[in-house]
Amino acid sequence: MVTKVVRVDPDRPDLLDIARAAECLRRGGLVAFPTETVYGLGVHALDRDAVRKLFEAKGRPASDPLIVHVAAFDQIQALVTALPAHAAALAARFWPGPLTLVLPRAASVPPEVTAGLQTVAIRIPAHPVARALLSAAGIPVAAPSANLFSRPSPTRAAHVLDDLDGRIDMVIDGGATTVGVESTVLDLTVDPPAVLRPGAVTVEALQSTLTGVRLAPSRSADTPLPSPGLLPKHYAPRAPMTLYRGQAEAARRALVAAARDAIDRRVRVGVLATSGDAGALEGMAVVIAAFGAEDDAEGAGARLYAALRELDAAQVDVILARDASRDDGLWRALRDRLHRAATRIVDAAERDHEPGT
Ligand code: TXA
Ligand code: MG
Repeated sequence: MVTKVVRVDPDRPDLLDIARAAECLRRGGLVAFPTETVYGLGVHALDRDAVRKLFEAKGRPASDPLIVHVAAFDQIQALVTALPAHAAALAARFWPGPLTLVLPRAASVPPEVTAGLQTVAIRIPAHPVARALLSAAGIPVAAPSANLFSRPSPTRAAHVLDDLDGRIDMVIDGGATTVGVESTVLDLTVDPPAVLRPGAVTVEALQSTLTGVRLAPSRSADTPLPSPGLLPKHYAPRAPMTLYRGQAEAARRALVAAARDAIDRRVRVGVLATSGDAGALEGMAVVIAAFGAEDDAEGAGARLYAALRELDAAQVDVILARDASRDDGLWRALRDRLHRAATRIVDAAERDHEPGT
């Protein structure tokens, strides 16, 4: 299969290009397209054969359910058995946007899409290209992130091609995505509603619309799994990644010391580095992938996956990074992704110890 690449203006895509891509989706094809979060790999959500093809193309286990994307709120009624009142309030405030709602599944949604669950995840994305495509297609579109299973999510068309060239029908290239981390997933079928995956729609923002929203306990959020081999290798680069956790200066010192030690052992080191980290590493033989300015969560989100892919492309043996030092707002999502990508988390000393003191 030859994957067709169609370049469009991200703000005002050519409607003839969009119409062709929409037709491809309606016929059961696999079309990657930009959303404001990451690139999605779209497929007709009600076409079971096409959905099976998608799982195959991604190498994704059938046990991992997909998000169904639609253009407008009135398309949701046909996909769910009930629409709780607060769904409308959340939709009014956050859609179109990086929020996914888990709702009770209607029989019209094939079990292949939801991995056999009685619930279905639904999102109305905000990206103009995604909106135009979904409107033109007029069908619900199931779309996981357009990466091979276990690779970092794609934030550019080139990332999609790196993973899926020759395995999918088309990529709509609308440039780099802006948010850069996947949507917030909120389960409305449990009481109180639970955030299953933190994202750009923050827990704080959700709580101000819907009281009682809680963060579902995540096995990756705080404790590294004892066995890296058992990690669900979502979002992960190829090289093992070590995170240094703790107060910023202490964590940075631990990172620099580890880099120096690795260089001495002739290990090729990559660092996901903020501007401050890069300054501390100046003159050292490390590959730096810029993670943005200190305290710029939006910038870090937009850069994260591209930076991990850059380090893989540079064929580093190990990746070092500092953990997010905050856990509010968008930092929660960033920390979640960093922890999922990491194979090891090291606690840096909280306080400064001068040698000999
Ligand atoms: O930002 C995004 O959400 C991107 C863009 C393309 O929309 N999509 C994305 O899809 O990240 P994917 O397949 O990589 O992640 C979907 C997440 C998974 O964590 C999956 O377990 C969860 O949504 N999910 C899907 N359906 C679910 C359901 N019925 N119940 C609970 N979780 C569900
Ligand atoms: Mg994914």
